[in-house]
Amino acid sequence: MPVISASHEFEVSDLFVNLQPIFGHRLFLKVEGFNFAGSIKLKAAREMVAQAEAAGVLRPGSTLVESSSGNMGVALSVLAAARGYRFVCVTDSRCNEATRRTMTSYGAEVHVLTEPHPTEGFLGARIRHVQALLAEDGRRVWLNQYLSPGNWMAHYRTTAPAIARQFPDLTVLFVGAGTTGTLMGCARYFGERRPSVRVVPVDSVGSVTFGAPPATRHIPGLGTSVRPPLLDDSLVDRAIHVEERDTVRTCRELMRGGFLFGGSTGTAVSGALRWLDEHHGDGAGGVRERVTAVTIAPDLGERYLDTVYHDEWVTRSIGPEGLLPGVGRGGPGTDRGAEHGTGHGAGVPAVTG
Ligand SMILES: Cc1ncc(COP(=O)(O)O)c(C=O)c1O
Repeated sequence: MPVISASHEFEVSDLFVNLQPIFGHRLFLKVEGFNFAGSIKLKAAREMVAQAEAAGVLRPGSTLVESSSGNMGVALSVLAAARGYRFVCVTDSRCNEATRRTMTSYGAEVHVLTEPHPTEGFLGARIRHVQALLAEDGRRVWLNQYLSPGNWMAHYRTTAPAIARQFPDLTVLFVGAGTTGTLMGCARYFGERRPSVRVVPVDSVGSVTFGAPPATRHIPGLGTSVRPPLLDDSLVDRAIHVEERDTVRTCRELMRGGFLFGGSTGTAVSGALRWLDEHHGDGAGGVRERVTAVTIAPDLGERYLDTVYHDEWVTRSIGPEGLLPGVGRGGPGTDRGAEHGTGHGAGVPAVTG
């Protein structure tokens, strides 16, 4: 057991779940929720804070300000508490109550916006609010997870090498896209060192990241209403888009197998299974081609007990189809969402339904 003196020093970098018994495909899930912030965002937050401190931008007496759908806010709350900064998190009404309370318990101030920007959604509204806060007080520092190179570098240095070490025969890596920090860190690492590995982004239907049309989304973590500036889609494969009902069904299938993960894990796994069915499904002889696939679980499920795992919330927000069983075992006739074009021919729905 390691001995630590600051909460952000602890991380579990080598835990993977074999999903084959649940879903039939040779798919492994890298688990990122076991740290004091409860999500993968602690890595990005740590790197961004370290870079800002080294550059002298962040100093004793500074107040951190960040826009977050929740997990980056918790990660910065943990770091701010450990390093003695004040922290203001700007989030919106999709942020879980438990996440908000976690931030305030760590001493952060949380601003919850309830009105989206007319054309740039909640993200546009949050960024304008951050800019207004910065203009009011010169001691406020915005690390800006949407632009900071520390965001993707954290994954280039830690997440991607840990996957590469564990899976020397990796064929395809599926990465959920929010700010695209995880995606770009992994894409750069594998692009440089193992270019044969396909890096496939997974996004939510309704997110504009890969040029698809905007629509209402309810589950935080993945997807954006403004294209993320960190994204270089020449370095990644075509994105898969997943409907929220399939996210919820996949989360619940994982839970029935004993694994309570966050909403975006359901999206990533659902997208990965759909892609694997399409690219490496049963051939004419009924034999699945040998692939080694990995995806990432950014957080665990407790924060989603009132949403993804709550029947009434699912029925009200997403529709009763979210409660249906049946995404497991890679069986035929499952509906795992729509795929939209990206990179080449961005914005054109390639396959639907
Ligand atoms: C729950 C969840 N899913 C997915 C992501 C996507 O990560 P990124 O912002 O690196 O694209 C995050 C980021 O925090 C997250 O918290």
